[in-house]
Amino acid sequence: MDKMIIRGGKPLRGTVSVSGSKNTALPILIAALLTDEPVRVLNVPRLRDVTTTLGLLTDLGAEARWTGDNEVEVCAKKISSHVAPYELVKTMRASFLVLGPLLAREGKARVSTPGGCAIGARPVNLHISGMRALGAKIQLRNGYVEAHARRLSGGRIWLDNPSVGATENIMMAAARARGATQIENAAREPEIIDLAAMLTAMGAKIAGAGTHVIEIEGVDRLHGVEHEVVPDRIEAGSLMVAAAITGGDVMIRNAPLAHLEAVTAKLAEAGVEITSDNGAVRVRRTGKLKPVELRTLPYPGFPTDLQAQMMALLTQASGTSVITETIFENRFMHAPELIRMGGDILMKGATAVVRGPTKLQGAPVMATDLRASMSLILAGLAAERVTEIGRVYHLDRGYEALDAKLSALGARIERVEDSR
Ligand code: EPZ
Repeated sequence: MDKMIIRGGKPLRGTVSVSGSKNTALPILIAALLTDEPVRVLNVPRLRDVTTTLGLLTDLGAEARWTGDNEVEVCAKKISSHVAPYELVKTMRASFLVLGPLLAREGKARVSTPGGCAIGARPVNLHISGMRALGAKIQLRNGYVEAHARRLSGGRIWLDNPSVGATENIMMAAARARGATQIENAAREPEIIDLAAMLTAMGAKIAGAGTHVIEIEGVDRLHGVEHEVVPDRIEAGSLMVAAAITGGDVMIRNAPLAHLEAVTAKLAEAGVEITSDNGAVRVRRTGKLKPVELRTLPYPGFPTDLQAQMMALLTQASGTSVITETIFENRFMHAPELIRMGGDILMKGATAVVRGPTKLQGAPVMATDLRASMSLILAGLAAERVTEIGRVYHLDRGYEALDAKLSALGARIERVEDSR
């Protein structure tokens, strides 16, 4: 397992580009199961989760391979397996998204439930009730969802909460169901809009993606397509925080500003200067950081995937900030590690009170999940002396060439083999 060594204290300066969105690319690649024609996907980030997804598609019988640095081709001419095994779904929860496409195309699927992960129980009840509303017969047996449907038929689905994954799974299944489907209280994330755009380009009939109500008129067939993945709003937000926490001045290319309004507003409130500069975004922090109140919410609210990064930043704000995590029940795992580095953070249930500024000192720390890892990298960039971050495989799941990107901005960061 590799680790990252960071010698902090240096303001980041220079230009960096945002890669394609992980949380968009994964459902987009899985949607290729809905057609027997080739699907080409552009601007795909080189991430472990993408490689895992290509492996899953191959196991199901599709041809799925990289055809360029950031290009993938998937052709599910035939499906030879309908099983997504536990060991795979456990490591990457997004594998559960094959349920809808397999049911729609093949009428059957045996998909392991993902089980919990570091940030929470991560149930899939909304996915299952959605498939049942489309006429699927579903049994839970030995930790697997066993689903059958001669032909899915449209239905009306109300999501108890605007689950991103459930919205994606149901939308993909409904695209090839018979009749009309309404998804109410649907997730509104940009990844939903991008998935709907690709499905529409494949011949699906979808209206309302990005709003609370998505209407889908099922069709018999979907055809191949070429689709470009939108830039990663979470990576862009993470890079903005990197500029802010180091007191730097960074130009970020391909940042999807329209998807980051809650984030840029909160960073501006904290005293970070964000200006758009012909297609790029300039992020500077020269003065003191100000404390803020932060509450994670479904899109377009402040994204939970940037909460850990903001907590690192707010340890440097002059005053007391309050962070409330409303999406996941255990997403403060980064806090104890930030405290070890000198952060003054008091957690109480879903709320964390962050007092600052405190001097961060480098320390050996451990990453627990993808975004917590980024939070520790950011703290290391601001800390005095050296920070060692173990288990960086978490990072490789969601950030393409992060050490190279940060080094190009002047960060003293290197990845080393961790012999332990
Ligand atoms: C997606 O996960 C993202 N992952 C997550 O990003 C992100 O944090 C999350 O959406 C919220 O924005 C991908 O897109 C691959 P949810 P997902 O279903 O779809 C509860 C990252 O770091 N829920 O919107 O799994 C659930 O427990 C990852 O990139 C149910 O109760 O999230 C959670 O509390 C982490 N029943 C809330 O809804 C269900 O059936 C939101 O989950 C499904 C979800």
